[in-house]
Amino acid sequence: MSDVHPPPADFAARAQIRDTSLHEEALADREAFWARQARSLDWATPFERTVEGDLTDARWFVGGELNAAYNCLDRHVEAGLGDRVAYHWEGENDDRRSITYAQLLDEVQRVAATLRDLGVRRGDRVAIYLPMVPELPVSMLACARLGAAHSVVFGGFSATSLRDRIEDAGCRVLITADGGFRRGGVVPLKDNADEALAGDTPVEHVLVVRRTGAEVRMQDGRDRWYHEAVPAEPVAIPAVPVDSEQLLFLLYTSGTTAKPKGVMHTTGGYLTHVAATTRWTFDLRPDTDVFWCAADIGWVTGHSYIVYGPLANAATSVLFEGTPDHPGRDRFWEVVERYGVTILYTAPTAIRSFMKWGREHVDAHDVSSLRLLGTVGEPINPAAWVWYRDVVGGGRCPVVDTWWQTETGGQMLTPLPGVHAAKPGCAMQPLPGFGVEVVDEHGQPLPGPGDGYLTIRQPWPGMLRGVWGDPQRFRDTYFSRFPGRYFAGDGARIDEDGDIWILGRVDDVMNVAGHRISTAEVESALVSHEAVAEAAVVGRSDETSGQAIAAFVTLRGEHDDGADLEQTLRTHVGKVLGPIAKPKTILFTPDLPKTRSGKIMRRLLRDIAEGRDLGDTTTLANAEMMTELSERAAAAR
Ligand code: PRX
Repeated sequence: MSDVHPPPADFAARAQIRDTSLHEEALADREAFWARQARSLDWATPFERTVEGDLTDARWFVGGELNAAYNCLDRHVEAGLGDRVAYHWEGENDDRRSITYAQLLDEVQRVAATLRDLGVRRGDRVAIYLPMVPELPVSMLACARLGAAHSVVFGGFSATSLRDRIEDAGCRVLITADGGFRRGGVVPLKDNADEALAGDTPVEHVLVVRRTGAEVRMQDGRDRWYHEAVPAEPVAIPAVPVDSEQLLFLLYTSGTTAKPKGVMHTTGGYLTHVAATTRWTFDLRPDTDVFWCAADIGWVTGHSYIVYGPLANAATSVLFEGTPDHPGRDRFWEVVERYGVTILYTAPTAIRSFMKWGREHVDAHDVSSLRLLGTVGEPINPAAWVWYRDVVGGGRCPVVDTWWQTETGGQMLTPLPGVHAAKPGCAMQPLPGFGVEVVDEHGQPLPGPGDGYLTIRQPWPGMLRGVWGDPQRFRDTYFSRFPGRYFAGDGARIDEDGDIWILGRVDDVMNVAGHRISTAEVESALVSHEAVAEAAVVGRSDETSGQAIAAFVTLRGEHDDGADLEQTLRTHVGKVLGPIAKPKTILFTPDLPKTRSGKIMRRLLRDIAEGRDLGDTTTLANAEMMTELSERAAAAR
């Protein structure tokens, strides 16, 4: 029997949702339910039909027109909330700024004016490669205001990754910074951008935010400082009403090949989904809560729960530039205390680190303002869940473990904090209106408890509408394994109570500290080094980051293995993909385990990396060396 925690009584008594009537409403008439949710947004032209098409071709709120920036800013200011703080920005090096809705609207219009002058029009794509500074959400909303789509590239990605994403999307404008602060050091964002734009590039204009003051090269005719280009005086730039299905943004994510996919999200459905789930999951009270989603806006969590979800609800959020352990290991708790954070949403990896560092860092601060805790991005182990609830939440805060993906746009599974009991490590139940089902390998819903695959059987508002430039890949990746269902790669278990546990990816996608990385991307980065003949990469379990990257490499004849080469290859992968993709261990081997037909046996490599018993290896062409490899893997762990 698993450990079951009913919602804390005080919380449940005051929760805004205390029963399952929303679920019942959605079950009775799903379309009417979503139409009602959509009407909490402001539509320039009301929609005529709620949904059309099937999973591969869904269109939501058909005929409706709206603007995402208008819904996140103008309507709140018009309603008299201009003085409410939208973001408490907590930067590195004691930089702080609180920005009201009126100020945010003003800055967004000024940046929109600049983008418009640079020729940005409805339907264009703008690349954004910034640290966690206010200019990041401002730039996103300025694009949305003009009906242009943004493509935010995480600041930890390399020049090569940035170049690939810019080229794939055909971005004409890039917004970046002279650099970003990280743990006291500086990330050379502008240098990376210069490298990404060298040679042929679709980018015509670059706006550069001054953040670090580092000396950077400005290319005449192409590069302009943000603070010089953006007008200092207020300008009125109307929010362009766009079709509900107008592209709002692209966000690249790793799949099972070396080429990341440009996941497409559109306006009306996405905004409806993230606005509603922000209210439900977090029991949000926009007039009193201080909401802190401690993710980076470079990932979907930040798009949905730092930018669009909270702003659509006129909430007050913390926008945090730093890291959990700089300058001290109490950094999070200092921030919670400073702003009186009431809702904290973070990744299990961070919680496991806090746990390792010890409760004294939490206890050194008054964190009693917290009333709800959330997790996202990877499975949370029960010990970390319990620690989070007891030490951070003082036992009085419900913990919501939210399952979703870049592709789903917003949360899909989570306990509702005032309704469902929670089980540590369990994502529990679909939120209202989502047709989530666990199926067997033939695509049949499991009749009772058991293990299977997580699928979604009906279109939902925030779902991805495609893979940019590759409709075939869209269909193959998500809809071919189980016809008539969406499948994005997670295994799941249904327990005796009908609750859903996420078992992790069943494809070649790793989840390292909550970040999605494909084995193929890392393999392709490794073989792009001259010393490497062949590489195989697997994810193995890791106490802190959930999974760690384990690489197996065979070298070209003339190269010697050794600690130097291991370091060189790690640096090389960091350069090609970004620091998060560096393998934790690299084992050199004269041969990789292959079937007699020459296919690399990843299952066996996973067993070796995990230190599991190898079982029967007689079908292998090169069985004898596996024992040796597994001994070396054990030593490297
Ligand atoms: O494997 C699941 C895991 O993260 C994957 C999605 O990654 P990404 O698109 O980068 O989005 C992460 C933030 C939403 C999923 O396929 N995952 C996400 N949330 C959970 C999770 N695994 C277990 N429990 C979760 N709560």
